[in-house]
Amino acid sequence: MRSSVCSLFVCISVLLAVKPGEGTETRNLTAVLGESVTFRCPRISSVHHRLYIQKKKEFINGFDMTQDLNIPLQYKNRTTINQSDLSMEMRNISVSDEGFYECIVFKSRETKPQSHVIYLTVTAKYNIPKVTAACSEPSSGVRSCWLSCWASGGYPQGVVRWAELNLSQIIDFQNNSHQDPKLKTWNISQSFVYNCNQPVNVSCSIGDARSKTTTFCQGDEKFSLDAAVISAIAVLLLILFIVPSVCIIRKRCGRRRPVPGDAALEVPLADCHSQPQDS
Ligand SMILES: *[C@@H]1O[C@H](CO)[C@@H](O)[C@H](O)[C@H]1NC(C)=O
Ligand SMILES: *[C@@H]1O[C@H](CO)[C@@H](O)[C@H](O)[C@H]1NC(C)=O
Ligand SMILES: *[C@@H]1O[C@H](CO)[C@@H](O)[C@H](O)[C@H]1NC(C)=O
Ligand SMILES: *[C@@H]1O[C@H](CO)[C@@H](O)[C@H](O)[C@H]1NC(C)=O
Ligand SMILES: *[C@@H]1O[C@H](CO)[C@@H](O)[C@H](O)[C@H]1NC(C)=O
Ligand SMILES: *[C@@H]1O[C@H](CO)[C@@H](O)[C@H](O)[C@H]1NC(C)=O
Ligand SMILES: *[C@@H]1O[C@H](CO)[C@@H](O)[C@H](O)[C@H]1NC(C)=O
Ligand SMILES: *[C@@H]1O[C@H](CO)[C@@H](O)[C@H](O)[C@H]1NC(C)=O
Repeated sequence: MRSSVCSLFVCISVLLAVKPGEGTETRNLTAVLGESVTFRCPRISSVHHRLYIQKKKEFINGFDMTQDLNIPLQYKNRTTINQSDLSMEMRNISVSDEGFYECIVFKSRETKPQSHVIYLTVTAKYNIPKVTAACSEPSSGVRSCWLSCWASGGYPQGVVRWAELNLSQIIDFQNNSHQDPKLKTWNISQSFVYNCNQPVNVSCSIGDARSKTTTFCQGDEKFSLDAAVISAIAVLLLILFIVPSVCIIRKRCGRRRPVPGDAALEVPLADCHSQPQDS
């Protein structure tokens, strides 16, 4: 009689005072971002008069044998109650759905309700991480490589793990975590400098996602580049050396002609001078 008189909101505020049943423990439920999950409230009899499911103090969905309940708009399309097995399916799970939920089950109008707490954990898979490596030229046989790994779209916040790196050769850690303001998913990245003197195969993982294996600190490409640079320098040096020497030799030859006192050259010069005299 009382429940039919009171408004839904009054009823809920009365219900909020209900303490979870003796000996009830929190049940843990896990859902994947964008997918569906089913909350199952414990049955306390063969027929139930009323069910309320609420999150913190907010009513989500339920049923009442004697009246229609006002389902909040944001849950109306996303939740479906199954009266016979006291369950609620929730679709298109988002990170903000994470938290404590309470089932309040009424056997009949007269009996005290029983309450059960369910904790919903939301997870989202990280995209395949991307690894990049860029190495310096070797100095005393050691290269400094800038390694980084990042992945996005995951939840909760993950850490970067590297396979097959010698930790004592890592310096200058930089961690970067960015949470998407709307989806609440994380973009995790980590970078550092790795000193190496031989090729290393590496991969990184964030959450359950693992990158492809990348080989870095390889000499081959750099070496062929070095060889090309050396050849170029050699050609340049040759040009710089040979061209001036040819010029110097030529200049010397040219200068020899007017030099006086050179017996070998004076003869033809004298010949030339003697020609106009002949005419
Ligand atoms: C639920 O998870 C919490 C921590 O996340 C843990 O303390 C509790 O024991 C778990 N309950 C069950 C029933 O697994
Ligand atoms: C719920 O779904 C109906 C039809 O499927 C749609 O017209 C309505 O806009 C939806 N409401 C919300 C809040 O998404
Ligand atoms: C409600 O749950 C029962 C038992 O799991 C199932 O047989 C029935 O099909 C469900 N009803 C709806 C409408 O999904
Ligand atoms: C699922 O929820 C997100 C927001 O959390 C929304 O942007 C998206 O349109 C929803 N998808 C469907 C199929 O309703
Ligand atoms: C790791 O690097 C340090 C310093 O370069 C070296 O002394 C050590 O032997 C390396 N350990 C392994 C397992 O390669
Ligand atoms: C970055 O993360 C690694 C591993 O989680 C940690 O060892 C390191 O101290 C962190 N560096 C900074 C600058 O936060
Ligand atoms: C994630 O972070 C990395 C490095 O901080 C950035 O390069 C990348 O574009 C970001 N990706 C997304 C999807 O935000
Ligand atoms: C790296 O991987 C390649 C191809 O899988 C393999 O041939 C090479 O021996 C590996 N190098 C090291 C240092 O493990």
